[in-house]
Amino acid sequence: MKVAVAADHGGFPIKAQIVELLTSMGHDVQDLGAHQPEPSDDYPDYARYVGQAIQNGHAERGVLLCGSGVGACVAANKMKGVRAGLCHDHYSAHQGVEHDDMNVLCLGARVVGVAVATELVEAFMSANFTKEDRHARRLEKVNAIEAAG
Ligand code: RB5
Repeated sequence: MKVAVAADHGGFPIKAQIVELLTSMGHDVQDLGAHQPEPSDDYPDYARYVGQAIQNGHAERGVLLCGSGVGACVAANKMKGVRAGLCHDHYSAHQGVEHDDMNVLCLGARVVGVAVATELVEAFMSANFTKEDRHARRLEKVNAIEAAG
């Protein structure tokens, strides 16, 4: 699967391991930065890079890292077609895809370490939207909220 990864300085410490993990899983990974630790960089820029990759079809999924995961998630969800979720537990990381068609996993590198992040990314990437009627109906309602602005 084509997957875009990005991190601000808060997420930077675990980004390389996440890129390596996704690559080892056989995914086509785009590392959209940061490419070096820069304490003054801003998480919305990286959220935008991942969101644009989703929007233009260069990526089917994204993994977005910041310190808490919160800012990146808030910013990413401002973008049309992005369904980002902050998941620090295994259940949400796969259920968010299965029920809600989450396409961007947000993680806080100051909250979870590499081992937990690895399990979360594996759960996220292995899950598929079930397309069951009730989930499709709810997704349509989410899309209507997005369309209404
Ligand atoms: C950066 O210091 C930090 O605020 C950012 O990475 C993130 O945690 C925001 O939600």
